[in-house]
Amino acid sequence: MLIKVLKELFHSELDKIYSKEEVFSFFHMLCEAYLDKSRLELALIPNLELTPEQETLFLKALEQLKRDFPIQYIIGNTEFMDLTFEVNENVLIPRPETEELIYWILESSSKEAKNSILDIGTGSGCIPIALVKNLPNSIIETMDVSEKALTVAKRNALAQKVNIKFIHHDILQLNDLDHDYDIIVSNPPYVRESEKNEMHDNVLKYEPDVALYVSDHDPLIFYKHIAKLAIKRLKKQGYLYFEINQYLGEQLYQILNNLGFEKIEIKKDLYGADRMIRAVKN
Ligand SMILES: C[S@@+](CC[C@H](N)C(=O)[O-])C[C@H]1O[C@@H](n2cnc3c(N)ncnc32)[C@H](O)[C@@H]1O
Repeated sequence: MLIKVLKELFHSELDKIYSKEEVFSFFHMLCEAYLDKSRLELALIPNLELTPEQETLFLKALEQLKRDFPIQYIIGNTEFMDLTFEVNENVLIPRPETEELIYWILESSSKEAKNSILDIGTGSGCIPIALVKNLPNSIIETMDVSEKALTVAKRNALAQKVNIKFIHHDILQLNDLDHDYDIIVSNPPYVRESEKNEMHDNVLKYEPDVALYVSDHDPLIFYKHIAKLAIKRLKKQGYLYFEINQYLGEQLYQILNNLGFEKIEIKKDLYGADRMIRAVKN
């Protein structure tokens, strides 16, 4: 099949499910991944004939896209903080909001600082890996309850040539941490079961439930538990950072305040939603 015919097929099958721009972007992401050709290179060779193997790959991806399977899982990677991360169905696809959380952490840390950092709920490893890349003298530990997520995160750390300590544990089962930290950060599960109707099918059907959902009767379970550990185990003037559910910022503010945290700040994401919070241990 010619590449231009394949492109037409993608639009005719997918334009009714996604916007034209999205289909265009999916098609070119697949061309980069399967043919190692950029959009500009392809424009010069519209009559490129695909091999049967290449055609099979594209047609499989087309079927997956029809079923809402995320393009990042099809390709097997995604970009985060200008780094490429392997992703599969065992890990959350890193989000731009989480990049904003990292920039916030970096703003208040000097590049030379020798911080001791703990990240809770590593997923693909995007937070600890991006942090250690930008704070190369820091010592970073990261934890996840999912062994499969840790396997992906370890491969990402290896690919990025960074040294991180990985801990397989359920944070909710820990009553204390091993030692003290300068920074504790977490993007824990925070979508309430009742908010599932706001989620897109690609997230609902394919991203891991363990990464996303909490019950409606105790949606801040992770935040309360982590904050209690953090008030014990952060060093003086140490920072606690969370990505948050946009509807629960004020509630979390009160919890952190009651625990004795100071300088509590809620920050909005690029879309104007309350998306992160930080607090300092006095
Ligand atoms: C919202 S995802 C965040 C993943 C990654 N940090 C990111 O920002 O893309 C939450 C992560 O917490 C992990 N997790 C869920 N419950 C946990 C628990 N009880 N203890 C430790 N990690 C947990 C999930 O496996 C998942 O990787």
